[in-house]
Amino acid sequence: MFHPQGPTFFELAQQALSSTERGYDLLGPKFDHTPFRTGNPFFAAFKQRLVEQCGPSQFNTILDVCCGTGAAMQALAPLCQDQLVGIDMSQGMLNQAAENLTGTTCPFELVRGNVFNMPFGATFDLAVSFGAFGHILPTQEQRFIAEIHKVLAVGGRFAFITHRMPSRFSATYWLARGFNGAMRVRNWLIRPPFIMYYLTFLWPDVNAKLEQAGFTVTAKPLFPDKPKLQLFQFVIAEKKYADQ
Ligand SMILES: C[S@@+](CC[C@H](N)C(=O)[O-])C[C@H]1O[C@@H](n2cnc3c(N)ncnc32)[C@H](O)[C@@H]1O
Repeated sequence: MFHPQGPTFFELAQQALSSTERGYDLLGPKFDHTPFRTGNPFFAAFKQRLVEQCGPSQFNTILDVCCGTGAAMQALAPLCQDQLVGIDMSQGMLNQAAENLTGTTCPFELVRGNVFNMPFGATFDLAVSFGAFGHILPTQEQRFIAEIHKVLAVGGRFAFITHRMPSRFSATYWLARGFNGAMRVRNWLIRPPFIMYYLTFLWPDVNAKLEQAGFTVTAKPLFPDKPKLQLFQFVIAEKKYADQ
């Protein structure tokens, strides 16, 4: 539909009618040829902001939460010294990630698991997550943030891209609202649900939730030189104290 090697309209419809996990299992082999994979210009800008904020030093351990096919792991490998870990609940996406990461210089591990119950101690220097906040319901955001706080070492950082609420007069706003409405109807009629909603985890709303979890937060425009992309924000949240 989006690319000759991407999914057909029928395949996408089949995915949307499955559970979130099964949907991504089906999409895994073709996911990289859809617009749902985070684009490389976003990773380039993200890395620039990260280096501005943390200095050019490398991270010992990096966790990619909802790693999908490993796009962020590929992009961040040069910044990682010891261990790059990706966690995702879809085995289909992880299989593709394993293929994509072949030859990566940094040692890596792919873990099948749910972000609400991650099987790690407080060990990571950096946790990232891209393109996945739509799968976290607003009522689950505090729990999701607490789980990321749990797996970071003291001084570790959670860095991500989000955006501000688009204007109510913009097409983006109404397209997102329309999509969310259709998704609610789909989930009301069909079980199991496919959880995917736009306009969630927005800046600055998410700031209070990060602070409540114990993070110290800094945000800046992701693309400072591109006025048309001003809504995108780079957010970096530092864990100051160990979990109780
Ligand atoms: C849109 S993809 C993004 C993949 C990748 N991060 C990227 O930016 O290209 C979202 C990913 O989140 C995963 N996911 C959604 N909910 C999850 C959960 N509760 N636990 C673990 N993974 C989850 C899906 O399996 C899927 O691979």
